[in-house]
Amino acid sequence: MDFYLDTADINQIKEIDKWGILRGVTTNPSIIAKTGRDYQDAVSEVLAIMGNRHVSVETLKDDADIIVEQGKKYREWGNNVVVKVATTEEGLKALSQLRKLGIPTNATLIFSLNQGILAAEAGANYISPFVGRLDDIGSDGIGLVEDCVNYVEENGLDCKIISASLRSPQHLEESAKVGAHIATCPYSLLQKALKHPLNDLGLKAFLDDWEEAKRKLKK
Ligand code: E4P
Repeated sequence: MDFYLDTADINQIKEIDKWGILRGVTTNPSIIAKTGRDYQDAVSEVLAIMGNRHVSVETLKDDADIIVEQGKKYREWGNNVVVKVATTEEGLKALSQLRKLGIPTNATLIFSLNQGILAAEAGANYISPFVGRLDDIGSDGIGLVEDCVNYVEENGLDCKIISASLRSPQHLEESAKVGAHIATCPYSLLQKALKHPLNDLGLKAFLDDWEEAKRKLKK
């Protein structure tokens, strides 16, 4: 499973990039709004760090022609931009047009298998089921990820599943177990995912034991 960061915070991206696991970044208008910067400026800064790795940038209107024009413009900012499109009727029209133009897309706001199937069949290169937001209303977010993975794989579609709206380390592990191709994570989730109390205790014991052994060797 590939790890993406769900952020436009440059410091978070630089920090996680040092871990050697960062394969992409996903943004959305709410995430960009948090930076307090102009849309293009915020995205350009992310693109500069990510080199040729995936950066999802969301379109800003529910109108197929405008989505396509925005998609073309975003691709001028960087050829690693993946155009993020909300899964609506206009979104499906735009996804199929962008596919024909060879512009990669990520269909976002997927809350049902029907939406996932329609977006994938319309030509989305990636689809993003929103796990946390479904769990918040008592639905089975990971179940949807699994259903989407099975659908695209059984039908041989050129479409990867991004497990999105992840809230907990359990979501991350479950995403991997059901075969999500990608998990896009907030920075805080990746930090939590790496932690385990036995790991901290184990490291302390190893280091203390060696310090003690060095003291004895010196005697
Ligand atoms: C995915 O591409 C979205 O940006 C994101 O995962 C949404 O997560 P949220 O439900 O925490 O806002």
